[in-house]
Amino acid sequence: MDKEKLIHKFDRQASVYDKRRKKSSDRKWREPLVSCAYGKVLEVSVGAGANFPFYPKDVEVTAVDFSNQMLLRAQEAAADHRLRAEFIQADVESLSFPTDTFDTVVSTLSFCGYENPSSVLAMLTDWCKPDGQILMMEHGVSSRRIVRNIQNLINPMFRKMVGCHLNRDIMDMLQKADLKLERTEHHWMDMVHLVWARPDK
Ligand SMILES: C[S@@+](CC[C@H](N)C(=O)[O-])C[C@H]1O[C@@H](n2cnc3c(N)ncnc32)[C@H](O)[C@@H]1O
Repeated sequence: MDKEKLIHKFDRQASVYDKRRKKSSDRKWREPLVSCAYGKVLEVSVGAGANFPFYPKDVEVTAVDFSNQMLLRAQEAAADHRLRAEFIQADVESLSFPTDTFDTVVSTLSFCGYENPSSVLAMLTDWCKPDGQILMMEHGVSSRRIVRNIQNLINPMFRKMVGCHLNRDIMDMLQKADLKLERTEHHWMDMVHLVWARPDK
């Protein structure tokens, strides 16, 4: 899908994401993950700042998203939670930081959207310090056959309407990457994966 179209699609969803952030219905997954962040944090595809309530107070967040409307909501969220954050409007897939810049890299519900998710993961690993951590909450294809079949069936329509893929094999991608998976949890019929990882470098 054309990037400008995709950005427009996410711009139009920003107020929905903002409401979700305030409702915090997925707190049970985000809080245990994001509360592990420390130091200099990179959060990619930050959306409306749904993770901001859960960061420890002393972190410094660099938050990236290509949607201006999402970033406006995320800025409000940072103010609400007194989070020290800077914001970059950019396409994560063409972003660049020096190697070993961040103590913590956070990605939640972002790998469903990239054109080339494995390359993004390699970049995140590169930007993370060798003793740093990568924290992820991603949705992907379920190991349950019936669920997987439904995901495969509705994926084209979902991609068109919402802008993300439902049937990516997130765990397979992570297992093939240069990462040490220290802890993983699988929820919601094995469609949602929580991952605490470190770069293997
Ligand atoms: C499904 S939402 C998730 C938002 C947030 N991370 C969360 O957990 O609620 C995906 C977000 O990724 C952003 N996004 C998708 N592809 C991107 C890209 N290539 N570069 C930057 N942002 C991107 C969208 O604008 C949107 O805000």
